[in-house]
Amino acid sequence: MSVSPALLDRIMAVMEAAFDPAYGEAWNRRQVADALSMPSTHALVVDGDGMLIAADERSDRAAGGFVLSRHVLDEEELLLIAVAPGCRRRGIGAILIGQLFSASRKRGVNRIYLEMRRGNPALFLYRKLGFEPIGERPNYYRMANGERIDAITFGLSIE
Ligand SMILES: CC(C)(COP(=O)(O)OP(=O)(O)OC[C@H]1O[C@@H](n2cnc3c(N)ncnc32)[C@H](O)[C@@H]1OP(=O)(O)O)[C@@H](O)C(=O)NCCC(=O)NCCS
Repeated sequence: MSVSPALLDRIMAVMEAAFDPAYGEAWNRRQVADALSMPSTHALVVDGDGMLIAADERSDRAAGGFVLSRHVLDEEELLLIAVAPGCRRRGIGAILIGQLFSASRKRGVNRIYLEMRRGNPALFLYRKLGFEPIGERPNYYRMANGERIDAITFGLSIE
C-alpha cells in the first residue's frame, strides 16, 4: 500500500522540528514510508488545534503533531509521537494519544505499549494518561555522541 506524499510531508515537517538530534530518535522519510507501507502500521496527524487531518487531505493545513503505531493482534505499540515545538503544552500530545486509543479499540486492541529513553520529559505525558512502567532495557539507545541510555517500557490497558 503506498503512502500519500501529503501525509508524509506533514509527518516529516513535524519530525524535523520536534526531535533533538543529540538523541537520534527522529526517523527519516524512507523509514516512515516503509513503516506505513505495512498494513499493521498506522499514522494519526493533527493540526495546531488538535484536529485530525485525513491521510489524503490536500489542503495546506499544517500539521501540529503526529503519532505512529503498530498493532499485532490485541496489542498496539506506540512507535513515535511528536508535537511541533510551537504547539506544545496545549494538550495536542494528549489528544493524539486519545485518538490512538479510539483507533486502537476499533482494531480490537486492548493494551498499548511504548518505549522511551530514560529522562525524556514525555514521561510526564505518559504517566498523566495512565501508562505504568513495566520494564527497562539498560543501555538500549545510543546517542549521537556514542553514549548509551536506558529504555523504559510502559503499558496501559484500554479495555
Ligand atoms: C512529548 C510531546 C509529544 C508532548 O506533547 P505536548 O503536546 O506538549 O503534550 P501535552 O500538551 O498534551 O501535555 C499534556 C500533559 O503532559 C505533561 N507534559 C507534557 N510535556 C511535558 C514536559 N515537557 N514537561 C513536563 N510535563 C509535560 C503535562 O502534565 C501536560 O499537561 P499541562 O501542560 O497541563 O501541565 C512533545 O514534548 C514532543 O514532541 N517531544 C519531542 C518528541 C519526543 O520526545 N517524543 C516522545 C518520544 S517518541
